[in-house]
Amino acid sequence: MQKKLNKIAKDTNLFLKRFIKRQKKSELIIPMKYGLFSGGKKIRSKILIDIGLIFKINYKSLIILGAAVECIHAYSLIHDDLPCMDNDSIRRGKPSTHIKFGESTAVLAGNSLLTMAFEILSHKDLNLSEKIKLNLINKISESSGHQGIAGGQYLDLSFEHKKVSKKRIIEMEIKKTGKLFSFCCVAPLIIKRKSKQEIKLFEDIGADVGLLFQVADDLIDNKGSLIVAGKKTGKDKIKGKATLISLLGHKNTVKYAKGLIFKINNKLKNYGSRSKNLSETLNYILNRKK
Ligand code: IPE
Ligand code: IPE
Ligand code: MG
Ligand code: MG
Ligand code: MG
Repeated sequence: MQKKLNKIAKDTNLFLKRFIKRQKKSELIIPMKYGLFSGGKKIRSKILIDIGLIFKINYKSLIILGAAVECIHAYSLIHDDLPCMDNDSIRRGKPSTHIKFGESTAVLAGNSLLTMAFEILSHKDLNLSEKIKLNLINKISESSGHQGIAGGQYLDLSFEHKKVSKKRIIEMEIKKTGKLFSFCCVAPLIIKRKSKQEIKLFEDIGADVGLLFQVADDLIDNKGSLIVAGKKTGKDKIKGKATLISLLGHKNTVKYAKGLIFKINNKLKNYGSRSKNLSETLNYILNRKK
């Protein structure tokens, strides 16, 4: 798995470096690159590639789509670490972007990474019809705004130190993390102009994959270490974050996550051996230490 992830990271970073190099220079490029290239597993790109394999999408297009997703992801992490959000000073084993460059620069570099995703998807590098690109941009916008990352981050912060129901915690985790995974799971079907029904199926699969990813992240925060995870752990409890762990405990949350994997694999049954890579990625997501 690590080898596959390394290859995806290398190809994605190469595309992004070339894309940025062709643009006019600006002062924000250095903090943007810091947020983009300071590590990162590229797990969202891996999901895109796993689903792309099921629907026979060419690798180059998937890497470009993944690059756009990674820009949005990098933006969300820069903002997530800000003092007004989680107030975290270490990300990927290095000082967070606002620690290194200051808060205002971090906010602006984050904004610029978010919009760069749309530049990438609308660029001629991505060799797809305008109609398909429009549908992709529409879907990724939905995943990032108030119905997705931003809305989920709002809930995450407003739930701090409150008693929150399981249903609301799941809603928050699906918005802040699941929706971007949902985009990764439906993009290949949008490209292949699949039926609304099949798109809905993969949207739901994506939400569950993202939920699984966030639950695993919460488990790492609960029991993982700074050295391995590359970020401070044990902080969710201190900050009074509403997580499934705070509600069900560690053990039962692991059980819940295993149940999610079972549920997702069940939905993939009709796709036979073509979904093997995705199933492997699901196990990696739950068992990872960083
Ligand atoms: C961390 O995401 C933030 C969450 C959504 C849980 P990742 O664990 O994918 O972060 P990197 O890119 O690998 O550092
Ligand atoms: C972040 O969740 C989700 C985002 C959309 C950025 P966390 O706040 O748990 O992510 P980490 O643990 O700081 O990486
Ligand atoms: Mg957060
Ligand atoms: Mg955080
Ligand atoms: Mg976390």
